[in-house]
Amino acid sequence: MPTTLIHFFTGTGNTAHAVKTIAEDIRKAGQEVTTVQVSLGVNPPELGAFERHIVAFPVLSWAAPVMMRQYLKRFPKGEGKQVAILAVNGAVFYKGKMVPGASGQALEEVEHLLRRKGYDVFLSGEASFPDNWTQMTDPGDEKSQKIIITHGEADVRNFTEKFLSGKRELFRCSPFNHTWTYLVAFLFGKMGRRALGTFYIADSSCNGCGLCARQCPSHSIVMEHNRPRWKTNCQDCNRCINFCPEKAIQTSMSLLVIQFTLHILMIIYGIKAVSAYASLLIPVAPWLMILIKTVLIIAVLYLASWITLVPLYAFLRLLGKIPAVRKFYCLSVTKKFSRYKGPEYVMRKQEADEQNKI
Ligand SMILES: Cc1cc2nc3c(=O)[nH]c(=O)nc-3n(C[C@H](O)[C@H](O)[C@H](O)COP(=O)(O)O)c2cc1C
Ligand code: SF4
Ligand code: SF4
Repeated sequence: MPTTLIHFFTGTGNTAHAVKTIAEDIRKAGQEVTTVQVSLGVNPPELGAFERHIVAFPVLSWAAPVMMRQYLKRFPKGEGKQVAILAVNGAVFYKGKMVPGASGQALEEVEHLLRRKGYDVFLSGEASFPDNWTQMTDPGDEKSQKIIITHGEADVRNFTEKFLSGKRELFRCSPFNHTWTYLVAFLFGKMGRRALGTFYIADSSCNGCGLCARQCPSHSIVMEHNRPRWKTNCQDCNRCINFCPEKAIQTSMSLLVIQFTLHILMIIYGIKAVSAYASLLIPVAPWLMILIKTVLIIAVLYLASWITLVPLYAFLRLLGKIPAVRKFYCLSVTKKFSRYKGPEYVMRKQEADEQNKI
């Protein structure tokens, strides 16, 4: 009997729901299926026993989550084993119409990673579920979320049908989209997700329950004096902000503006300094100077990121110990936003509630 192993990462439960749907359909077709959920410290199991694999992940800034890519890099050599890839992206309602999500280069990036390891990637596709980026956008009302979920489930069933029939079909985006989404994804992976993690703050409704820290897939939250503190290894999956039972987690708009402004100023002044002083201090041939300046500018970008994420963030956090400053940090539009829990987690909660009743 063919056996399939599904490897997946999920932030808020959409991908978990897609995986559950796929697994049910594969079982209905009389085949065996096992799943593994990726989080910090989870390594690929022994892959030899499985004939085919499915890799499923949420699209974060036109890429697979960094943790998922790191997990896939730990795969052994593929020796021609078949793999299908599903990207779960985020759709929104705009002016009464559903706008499906966009995966950009995410599927192709994962496909190439697996091909380089010798896997036969035969299928890649996307499914649109509700957008969960509550840190910056309101996830909308339940009615529109339900409509999007129904579409997402249809996308997933379509994917499973192709998987079961062995159909070869690979997702491709245009070279233009591929290039710019690759650049954005690269910056997000290196810097953006870390920076976004530093803008989270727990406001006065936090009761110190520690759920956010326990549920974070990358252990990026530590509890200090009964309040969560975000480290700089965040994946930006948005689970914490969406799952906090008190809706206490916000995006600190003031921290965002202060950190972003100082970061940009450091880059501008750093580049100005390189342009003004490099040729005065290092007298070399013009062609070599271009090379030196390029290296120095890259160093400025890295240094500015490090200063923003380490000493500046630590200093701003220290200031946040002053109650008035903390109150200022907690001002945010996200207080008015609703929160999003994917169908998988909503169902699990309903099941748990039912059991508690019994
Ligand atoms: C930081 C962040 C970036 C995102 N970027 C994209 C994107 O580039 N394209 C897209 O369609 N959806 C994007 N989304 C939406 C998620 O991919 C979508 O909501 C997904 O269904 C979440 O799946 P999960 O519940 O399994 O985490 C993003 C969400 C977050 C939190
Ligand atoms: S889950 Fe919410 S209430 Fe609980 S510790 Fe985290 S921020 Fe506070
Ligand atoms: S800190 Fe929040 S957004 Fe970041 S990885 Fe953990 S749960 Fe996800």
